[in-house]
Amino acid sequence: MYKTHNCGELRLSHAGQQVTLAGWLHKRRDHGGLIFIDLRDRSGLAQITIDPSKGEAYAAAEKSRAEYVLKVTGTVRARPEGLSNPNMSTGDVEVLAESIEVLNAAKAPPLPLDDDGYKTTETLRLKYRYLDLRRARLQKNLILRHKAIKFMRDYLDAQGFIEIETPMLIKSTPEGARDYVVPCRVQPGKFYALPQSPQQLKQLLMVAGYERYFQIARCFRDEDLRGDRQPEFTQLDLEMSFVERDDVLAMVEGLITALIPAVTPHKRIIAPFPRLSYAEAMNRFGIDKPDLRFGAELTELTEAVKASEFKVFAETIAAGGVVKAICAPGCAGYSRKEIDALTEVVKAQGAKGLATVAWTAEGVKGTAARFLKENEIATIADRLGAKTGDLACIVADKRSIANKALGMLRLELRDRLHLAPADLLAFGWVIDFPMFEWSEEDQKWTFAHHPFTMPKEEHLPYLESDPERVLSDAYDLVCNGYELASGSIRIHRREVQATIFKALGYSEEEQQHRFGHMLDAFEYGAPPHGGMAPGIDRLVMLMADEPNIREVLAFPKTASGSDLMFDAPSELDEKQLHELHLKLSL
Ligand code: AMO
Ligand code: AMP
Repeated sequence: MYKTHNCGELRLSHAGQQVTLAGWLHKRRDHGGLIFIDLRDRSGLAQITIDPSKGEAYAAAEKSRAEYVLKVTGTVRARPEGLSNPNMSTGDVEVLAESIEVLNAAKAPPLPLDDDGYKTTETLRLKYRYLDLRRARLQKNLILRHKAIKFMRDYLDAQGFIEIETPMLIKSTPEGARDYVVPCRVQPGKFYALPQSPQQLKQLLMVAGYERYFQIARCFRDEDLRGDRQPEFTQLDLEMSFVERDDVLAMVEGLITALIPAVTPHKRIIAPFPRLSYAEAMNRFGIDKPDLRFGAELTELTEAVKASEFKVFAETIAAGGVVKAICAPGCAGYSRKEIDALTEVVKAQGAKGLATVAWTAEGVKGTAARFLKENEIATIADRLGAKTGDLACIVADKRSIANKALGMLRLELRDRLHLAPADLLAFGWVIDFPMFEWSEEDQKWTFAHHPFTMPKEEHLPYLESDPERVLSDAYDLVCNGYELASGSIRIHRREVQATIFKALGYSEEEQQHRFGHMLDAFEYGAPPHGGMAPGIDRLVMLMADEPNIREVLAFPKTASGSDLMFDAPSELDEKQLHELHLKLSL
């Protein structure tokens, strides 16, 4: 070993001991005479003091620059009276250097490695990720991630789960994204698909009798990327046999409610997690992944303004639409410009406009106020719980648009007014999802979760006649406005699975070609089963208070799917293309 101690562990109790440390030069201060070096390793910082009387050590310190790799031997001593640094865990001591060896020199880093480094461009950060990762904040995040995953493994092991690895080179398993594909050299013209999730494999493990499976599983999806999406990401994938929905929810809720206090004890959670049906989530929050940290819920005013003379309301209601609103606390004084900004938010979701009622100290104002009768305004105030100083934001439209528009407006108000407490992780369950979604792009019904999800038994008769009405046994775990996990009770009977494939428009031939192995497996005694998959990147992002999942991944990709450090993806040379029997047509 190059060292006897870690930098960050030195305390007053080490005073008088000779230690050898190894690490990076974090900061150097030359006080004309004494030189001070903050030496950094993974455990933290230690202050090294170098006296000019130590000739060789002093010379080494003088020529060392930021990020030089040093080995330092010296004696720990208490810092002189009044010079302790309370902001440093090792701030009570320093190491008086006896010898310093430069293990490696370093060029000046192309980006600052303290917290200011976050202000440099992300391109630079990702290109030099191995430097970026030296930052304390990222180290903390990766250590937190490690602890979270270790906790999950231990917890599930104690619950009788076994971890089983499944292959990466398989056949398409649809989760609603495009596949990444890999050409097969020895079978010209054939391709593997990387799994969008281990969904089919874990179900086949249930057929195989493993009863409780989990995996820290890498998933690959070619889809449009955002702050909470990466082309490859990690799930805690789990599956259980002989269970009903509530058994799976209880298992995951138990895991999460144990995990948070164990790994991030400064985070508050509220247990038991509230449960909302999909319909209730849409009506109250306008979105299927509600942020439950605050109120400002969507309130229906259709009845209250049914007889209104305000044309916008009356005509919308007459056409079968609704009038809904949220109360923006303390916003009665919003300027025209601020209201316009809110209006843009609802218009971006397809709403035609935003009507307002403002309860100011000088009376009721706002675009809708002058068209509404006193009793109508009073009813609105009552329904919204609005007080003087508050602003009603009202949208009249088709129910789906009013919900979506106000759902987004609610999040806008959250950010503008800081409505969400920062220390809260507000988990909740969304259940009873629709089985199918109408795809505008393909002009047909498609699955809302994935095609292996069990429809509610009592809705099976409507599969073909009225697909919109069919609810499924799918469920999501949401937290702070993110979808953290999805799962479902699965189909385990062949004839039901075939009916679903048919309803999704797969021909018999296509069913056999794409999913023959599943249909076959269900003929050999498939047990009832269900499961779920929390997204580990998103969960750790929330636990670490980070704004996007790239901050909790060692080597993330950019929004266009590039790895800037490797410069991937990249071209293949002619020889490789030839071996793979590929010709490019660009
Ligand atoms: P689903 O597709 O909903 O379900 O994914 C489960 C969870 O994985 C996370 N996630 C992502 N995280 C980062 N980047 C992405 N591109 C990304 N896509 C999804 C989310 C999401 O909630 N096989 C089913 C699970 C099951 O039914 O058991 C599945 O994959 O947190
Ligand atoms: P207009 O009659 O179109 O000038 O609209 C009068 C006010 O009502 C403006 O503030 C619009 O933003 C608002 N408004 C228009 N359409 C709607 C709607 N569907 N829902 C809520 N407010 C609307």
